[in-house]
Amino acid sequence: MEGAMLEKGVSRERVVEELIDSTGKDVDWRTGRVLTGLYDPGEDAHDLAVEAYTRFLPQNALYVNMYPSIGNLEKDVVTSIAELLRADDEVVGNMTSGGTESILMAVKTARDWARENKPQITEPEMVLPVSAHPAFLKAAHYFDLSIKQTDLDLSNYRADLTSYREALSDNTIIAVGSAPNFSHGSIDPIKEMAALAAEKDILFHVDGCVGGIYLSIMRRMGDKLPDFDFSLPGVTSISADLHKYGYTPKNASVILYRNRDLRKYAWFVCSSTTEYVVINPTTQSSRTGGPIAAAWAILRYLGEEGFQNIVSKSQDATNKVISGIREIEGIDVIGKPDMCMFTLASDEINVFEVDDEMKMRGWQMIPQFACGGSPPNLHISLTQANVPHAEQFVKDLKAVVETLRSKGSAVNTAELYAVVDEVAEEPLEVIMATLIPHIGLSGMDLPEKMAPLNTVLSRLPARKRDQLLTFFFNMK
Ligand SMILES: Cc1ncc(COP(=O)(O)O)c(C=O)c1O
Repeated sequence: MEGAMLEKGVSRERVVEELIDSTGKDVDWRTGRVLTGLYDPGEDAHDLAVEAYTRFLPQNALYVNMYPSIGNLEKDVVTSIAELLRADDEVVGNMTSGGTESILMAVKTARDWARENKPQITEPEMVLPVSAHPAFLKAAHYFDLSIKQTDLDLSNYRADLTSYREALSDNTIIAVGSAPNFSHGSIDPIKEMAALAAEKDILFHVDGCVGGIYLSIMRRMGDKLPDFDFSLPGVTSISADLHKYGYTPKNASVILYRNRDLRKYAWFVCSSTTEYVVINPTTQSSRTGGPIAAAWAILRYLGEEGFQNIVSKSQDATNKVISGIREIEGIDVIGKPDMCMFTLASDEINVFEVDDEMKMRGWQMIPQFACGGSPPNLHISLTQANVPHAEQFVKDLKAVVETLRSKGSAVNTAELYAVVDEVAEEPLEVIMATLIPHIGLSGMDLPEKMAPLNTVLSRLPARKRDQLLTFFFNMK
């Protein structure tokens, strides 16, 4: 076993060289062809963020009394995001390490609120559309809550209100909607959902992790969007990530609560050990001040005008790409995306093969599996870094789709589905032994062509694919 620690250290130059060498197989984020998970604010802003980050890297944000600057910077950032989300003066919040932590905090807060305010609930439940982010399911898993996933309206991939209404019960401690969901870029009918929750005195969280900032800027630029923020009285908490369309470095997000009466259930305070007193509003304790300072710097540097420029060019490019795709026969954008995030599906060709071929041309999208009526698809989160490459993307996609349609598929999707269906309910070992010969997996490295593997995973019941993925990654 070889790790990083050597018996005797090596030179700084060599370490840097080794680090650079280690990235040989990494995707190059500077190409403008990474269509997900990367939010590059541009060279100047990036350099500024690096400077702000490194200046505050050593400081421990746990000790706000020692570093009041960090507390002040965090307050400024939280206030700015709260203002975008039309919060009043009662709304309070904190910065976290990302969307997942913000969501964990919203759910933990709701659980503890319910323990005190609805002590009759012994089997707490969370209600959420099947498009809500896995972080909510993680929260349910960590905090031992049941979940009720509700249907989507498949004409637009927004939450179906009938299914939602039926799921809310006397045991529901938190209900969730997304603005927008990651998978299809659609805003749920938040106004109606929050009102349904309020009728039953249920806390309602809006997941604005990916889109809260972007959509608010769109709204301020005059776009007619449905309300999804604190302007709706039933909304009790919102998460909004800075490290996505806030274009700030990871790890930075904001969790906002309707008022202090709710946020009081977020805290963990402990003075009952021999150690120092812990006072945490979020899950982390010691943490660097870097992401806070960098977020503050980016917000200040870009200002609203900077964000409007980014949003405006991203929306233009999105509209062009979507109409370009709609002209390509054999592939389509599904649903009705509300911002620069959307999804490609096909009932003619295997989209995972499209993904493999587009990867050969340097394009990185996210494969998403069939679930809740949504077909296998490829997700794109377009950012400003992709704007100059938007036309080329459509050209490449057209060429790839045309070739797959004319030359035929290398993957026999129907046959793979039949093999999967035959073993789907068998134990994991049987599933693996049957499927491995079909998916080009040898050893623990993922195959270069992922289409057969993705096709198989997409067809398996979610429960089984979770088990399979856990097994695989645990072996690595
Ligand atoms: C809507 C939504 N919520 C939550 C998250 C989780 O965010 P993070 O990856 O920062 O934990 C994401 C991530 O893409 C998201 O799109």
